[in-house]
Amino acid sequence: MRDIDVSGKRVLMRVDYNVPMDVASGRILDDKRIRATLPTLDYLRLEGARVVLLSHLGRPKGKRDPSLSLAPVAARLAELMGEPVQTADDCIGTVVQDAVAALTDGDVLLLENVRFHPEEEANEEEFAKALASLGDVFVNDAFGVAHRASASTEGVAHLRPAVAGFLMESEINFLSRAVEEPERPYAAIIGGAKVSSKMAVIEALLERVDKLMLGGGMANTFLKAEGFDVAESLVEDDYMAEAKRIEEKASERGVKLLLPADVVVAERFEADSPARRVSVKDVPAGWRIMDVGETTIDVYAHALAECKTVVWNGPMGVAEMPSFAHGSHRLAGVIAKLEEATTIIGGGETAAVVESLGMAEEFSHVSTGGGASLEFLEGRELPGVAALQDR
Ligand code: 3PG
Repeated sequence: MRDIDVSGKRVLMRVDYNVPMDVASGRILDDKRIRATLPTLDYLRLEGARVVLLSHLGRPKGKRDPSLSLAPVAARLAELMGEPVQTADDCIGTVVQDAVAALTDGDVLLLENVRFHPEEEANEEEFAKALASLGDVFVNDAFGVAHRASASTEGVAHLRPAVAGFLMESEINFLSRAVEEPERPYAAIIGGAKVSSKMAVIEALLERVDKLMLGGGMANTFLKAEGFDVAESLVEDDYMAEAKRIEEKASERGVKLLLPADVVVAERFEADSPARRVSVKDVPAGWRIMDVGETTIDVYAHALAECKTVVWNGPMGVAEMPSFAHGSHRLAGVIAKLEEATTIIGGGETAAVVESLGMAEEFSHVSTGGGASLEFLEGRELPGVAALQDR
């Protein structure tokens, strides 16, 4: 963005204000994605740009849905900027064109949810043209949705000079460190419920990391593949052979693969279920694994101590239930203390864990992208990034 002149220009800026909201009250539950765009907005306003903000919220499937209006986001953005934010009740059409024409230098206008139009996700050219007509240049600061080839993330970037905003820049810089030339030893910790959604990233990481530590529901499939009886724990039986293959590949490549040694098990999948910590050898019949245990975190902490690059994606247990969030919380504390390392926290649930602990500032980078950061770490090209201009 620093490489182009924006003063007095209409800057069409894509942001990812897809924030968690309480549907009944319209209250924003986490405004991290809004706060993360403030540096770009401050810069543009100081340079005298006229900023036209575009975002999606939720998945309205091409239909207008008042519960997915961006109006509450505009109010929160205005509070955070300490400046008024104008709104429009659509993102294309004459009303919008008039609103854009009336902007003066430094003004900010947030258009209505771009996914109210089916043409957005279909990446239709005429729709992209209508969006492009609202700006002289395009700034993409929406890393969180850069893995979607939509009209407002990809199509429009081919129709105007298209550059990265500061959030996009910093996401790419930090995540590239993990993908391109990580300082070693390099460790990745992968958790989350389902191994099926993490297989691609595990596979890609095996090519790069020195150590790979697993946790969360997905580790159960690996434990079962190793012959442990995980009783009623979540397992994806279809992936057991894959899990075995990953273990073999790790040993061929000399990657140290660590699995939980002890776990917290519960009688029922409920926050207040009776629970206890056991060795992975002793999961009681009828019980299920809900979190990793203290020994596991001690072992992981020991393995992480010498690392210079650490990436964490996916909770270690059922972190949304306070009684089974302990493993994830302890791991967050361990990673936060690695002062010599570049520490990168994946977006989505993992970011929510560290935000809930008020620890976000203690890591080198907490990504605003869930699916996008995962795809980046898989080494895939993100359409929203690929469409931007090179210097
Ligand atoms: C996200 O929250 O991951 C992004 O905003 C993308 O949303 P989507 O998964 O609905 O495309």
